[in-house]
Amino acid sequence: MRILTRGSLQRLLKLTVVLGSLWMVLRLGFPEKGWAPTYILRYSWLEYTDADGSPEKIRLNVTHWTFNRHLLGRIPFGVDSILFIYSQFKLSRKYLPFPLSKEEEDFPLAYSMVVHNKVQNFERLLRAIYAPQNIYCVHVDNKSEASVFFAIQAITSCFENVFMVSQAVNVVYAAWPRVQADLNCMADLYNASTKWKYFINLCGQDFPLKTNLEIVRKLRSLKGANSLESETMAGEKKWRVSNVHQIVDGEIKVGIGKAKEPPPFNLPILSGNAYIVVNRGYIRSVLEDNRVLALIEWAKDTYSPDEFLWATIQRIPGVPGSSTILPSGE
Ligand SMILES: *[C@@H]1O[C@H](CO)[C@@H](O)[C@H](O)[C@H]1NC(C)=O
Ligand SMILES: *[C@@H]1O[C@H](CO)[C@@H](O)[C@H](O)[C@H]1NC(C)=O
Ligand SMILES: *[C@@H]1O[C@H](CO)[C@@H](O)[C@H](O)[C@H]1NC(C)=O
Repeated sequence: MRILTRGSLQRLLKLTVVLGSLWMVLRLGFPEKGWAPTYILRYSWLEYTDADGSPEKIRLNVTHWTFNRHLLGRIPFGVDSILFIYSQFKLSRKYLPFPLSKEEEDFPLAYSMVVHNKVQNFERLLRAIYAPQNIYCVHVDNKSEASVFFAIQAITSCFENVFMVSQAVNVVYAAWPRVQADLNCMADLYNASTKWKYFINLCGQDFPLKTNLEIVRKLRSLKGANSLESETMAGEKKWRVSNVHQIVDGEIKVGIGKAKEPPPFNLPILSGNAYIVVNRGYIRSVLEDNRVLALIEWAKDTYSPDEFLWATIQRIPGVPGSSTILPSGE
């Protein structure tokens, strides 16, 4: 295992800057038509206090060195592994600069983080789960304060592997948009990288109890299975999926009374949790499997679809990592 000392990190950074400047000199010395700039230094300063007046401010001193990807591709013998992009923010907040072990490097994870306020909490959570081999999609509620959005965007802009969701929705408690937020991140994560092995979704109030290595070991021991609740739906919850529900003035209205059609393909609706740990193949099924796509359309006017959708998909035959033996009673 590599141990990172402060001294070695500083040396590494110095090396990066020297090489970066050197490369700029080389580049300026040999201009070629049509090449974008190779070296950009961006700098921004942001001080942010949460609206609830938390005593702590978040200070972002964001200094970026950006190297043109296209040009990096031309540099021989993997120099881009040295010319990595590092920012002042990542350094001062002590984000991990490289994977702590080969085992973790070979088992990247994808995170979806659905947040709406408390930027400091978000930043602590990100720092706690951050590893450079992982990939993170952040969904900031479209209704959030503009300052929350900009502060979180400033943080994510410091990382190659942390990004804002391409489509943010207005999240409504217990209604479809909560699922849509995760779905949009799933699509972006699936598209952004083919390497990650497992998907984990979090909200802004989560905090990890395990290190990345401990999480990786647990996930490897699942041998491709998913880890999520999928139980028989209790009788007193059935109204959630047997009646049509609508969002009125930003809230879900219960008891409009109209009965829903039965689920597509007679899928048994199961009950579970909004927070899941699933493999990449499960996400592919969510995005591409016709049965799942039909179920998603059907679920859009139900109550709290986040608490049955993932659980139901988990029992569909052929979904990678699923468990098709139904719980007794179905
Ligand atoms: C931000 O970081 C840059 C580069 O390290 C430094 O020159 C500048 O003084 C810092 N700004 C503040 C306000 O701390
Ligand atoms: C996001 O918010 C804006 C402004 O309130 C609104 O016009 C837009 O429709 C919202 N987008 C979504 C996807 O809800
Ligand atoms: C995937 O990414 C490519 C570019 O990287 C983009 O053109 C395409 O629209 C994306 N697809 C989806 C489903 O997001």
